[in-house]
Amino acid sequence: MKKITLNLKNAVKEEEILKFQEQVTKINNSMEDFSAIGSDFLGWKDLPENSNWKEINQIKKSASELHSKKIEVLVVIGIGGSYLGAKAALDVIQGLRPGKERKMEVIFAGTSISSNDLYQLLKYVENKRFAINVISKSGTTTEPAIAFRFFKSLLESKVGVEEAQKLIFATTDANKGTLFELAKIKNYQKFVILDNIGGRFSVLSPVGLFPLACAGIDIDEILKGAAEANEIYKQDSLATNDAYRYAVSRFILGQQYKSEMLVSYEPNFAFFNEWWKQLFGESEGKNEKGLLPTSAIFSTDLHSLGQYIQEGSKVLFETVITLKNPTHDLLITEDEENLDKLNYLMDKTVHFVNNAAFEATMDAHVNVGKVPNIHLLLEDSLEKSFGWLVMFFERACAISAYLLGVNPFNQPGVEVYKSNMFKILGKK
Ligand code: PA5
Repeated sequence: MKKITLNLKNAVKEEEILKFQEQVTKINNSMEDFSAIGSDFLGWKDLPENSNWKEINQIKKSASELHSKKIEVLVVIGIGGSYLGAKAALDVIQGLRPGKERKMEVIFAGTSISSNDLYQLLKYVENKRFAINVISKSGTTTEPAIAFRFFKSLLESKVGVEEAQKLIFATTDANKGTLFELAKIKNYQKFVILDNIGGRFSVLSPVGLFPLACAGIDIDEILKGAAEANEIYKQDSLATNDAYRYAVSRFILGQQYKSEMLVSYEPNFAFFNEWWKQLFGESEGKNEKGLLPTSAIFSTDLHSLGQYIQEGSKVLFETVITLKNPTHDLLITEDEENLDKLNYLMDKTVHFVNNAAFEATMDAHVNVGKVPNIHLLLEDSLEKSFGWLVMFFERACAISAYLLGVNPFNQPGVEVYKSNMFKILGKK
């Protein structure tokens, strides 16, 4: 069953979308036959069907060993594509304050170079039973490398070098890089990031799957959802492929607007927004092209950014994700005193009110504010639907970048700050 329903009626005209059929077919074919620019990095597109099942079994086995050892916290150390997908999935699927379904707490380190943050993270696990999953495709990224040095040292001093070796997992390149060499010397359990999968497209690889399995999330279901989605989203037809319809719509809107704001009515989608921002920002922002990906959580941000969206500069359009079936809902019941004057909502659910906020806002933004609105209705926020969402946006992102004429899979601009920093630090 389809997990995502796309509504473009408040964004672009159908006939405008269909004009791109020939171009999209050409791009899709060039992705299928690997002649597209950057095709060395197209490994993600068939990943749910072509996963390394032996490694997936090892991931599940290692996670369940950590559960048996009663490890309380997994410290995931990574930055950018090496952590955002896992963080997004954890929050979307299990919520921000999970109960027993979370088999192990997962925290993230190495996502900045803040000494305050690193100090507090180290303090947080100091008296807990913890394991480490250090993730870096290149194996040389400074932020996770610094954090790993501290966490490794803390773990070794707590449980001894020998036991620490069994509690450290390295997700990195199959054959090269500083982290690969270190893991080899230390004999850590390794998981592989394939050469043809870039960081921001890696959530369905061990990068995302090991932390998720540790948290108690059903990774098979995520992969099943992504594979189901792929059946539709790999087809070139703009009549049926919603991922490509979305890509074309944002390309059309991009002729007039500078920014796309991804909006969700669920606070636990905040990191999904961050994952999406990296995906589109790093993939498209080249050659002075690309929409600025921004995000908001409604109705929260309607009380801060709402005014700007409604009446400020006409620089953005919105892409809104709402949930059809929340995992939990609450019924608003009668209060005899009715001092809060809320009895008019009696017998309605909180989700019903959230939907009313969505409908009212869409009407206000589209019809009064003249802000175009793309709407994605997501069936639920469970594993399969998460897999669908990932495939939807990854496929859309590739087509979007190719429509702009840029290579979706490199990020040459990120190197500029790094080489400046290494000069300042005197790295040889
Ligand atoms: O998408 C990308 O490739 C990047 O954003 C990387 O994920 C990020 O820079 C981290 O790189 P690495 O995994 O090599 O440490």
